[in-house]
Amino acid sequence: MPLQLGDAAPDFTQQSTLGPLHFYDYLGTSWGVLFSHPADFTPVCTTELGEASRLKPEFDKRNVKVVGLSVDPVEKHGTWASDIADATGSALNFPLIADADRQVSTLYGLIHPNADSTATVRSVFVIDPNKIVRLELTYPASTGRNFVEILRTIDSLQLTDTFKVATPVNWKQGEDVIITTAVSDDEAKTRFPAGWKTVKPYLRVTKQPQAV
Ligand code: BEZ
Repeated sequence: MPLQLGDAAPDFTQQSTLGPLHFYDYLGTSWGVLFSHPADFTPVCTTELGEASRLKPEFDKRNVKVVGLSVDPVEKHGTWASDIADATGSALNFPLIADADRQVSTLYGLIHPNADSTATVRSVFVIDPNKIVRLELTYPASTGRNFVEILRTIDSLQLTDTFKVATPVNWKQGEDVIITTAVSDDEAKTRFPAGWKTVKPYLRVTKQPQAV
């Protein structure tokens, strides 16, 4: 049974570039992003790991810990890490799991046998502080992921966990949001005192509320 949204993220202990990684302990009370790579010394993955490292301040701002995974042994990861710094200008600044025995890949369903029988696909799991899977993305090996989109979805999850809103198509931090249909107009008057625009009775748009 594949992992689904709302499921508990499986815990594990596995080798990583920071030594043995106890996943739940490492995440602590933070959000987590776990993302997988087909193999070490591959060009698309090199760009992704450099970009995720460059964006560390953005992940930190959102209280997110990033963890990468590739199915090669940890010694190989060490040499690849030097290449990543060299090629992208950003040194790896989060653990990269060495899943040579496919323990984590099996737990998270990262091998899609009809795509490739041994290499992991490019999956992303966003995990909340309660260790619940809140977002899954799966890309083919030939397509690098968009880390701005990953940050955007985390912004949406964190906002909609706090306020009774949802975020519309292509929404970005600071843009207008949708009042959820579970909120009556009466309740909306107290929750959104600045008001809203009713486009349809089920589509009410308001300014993004700010956390205090
Ligand atoms: C890459 O990371 O560049 C890559 C890995 C596996 C297949 C194709 C591309």
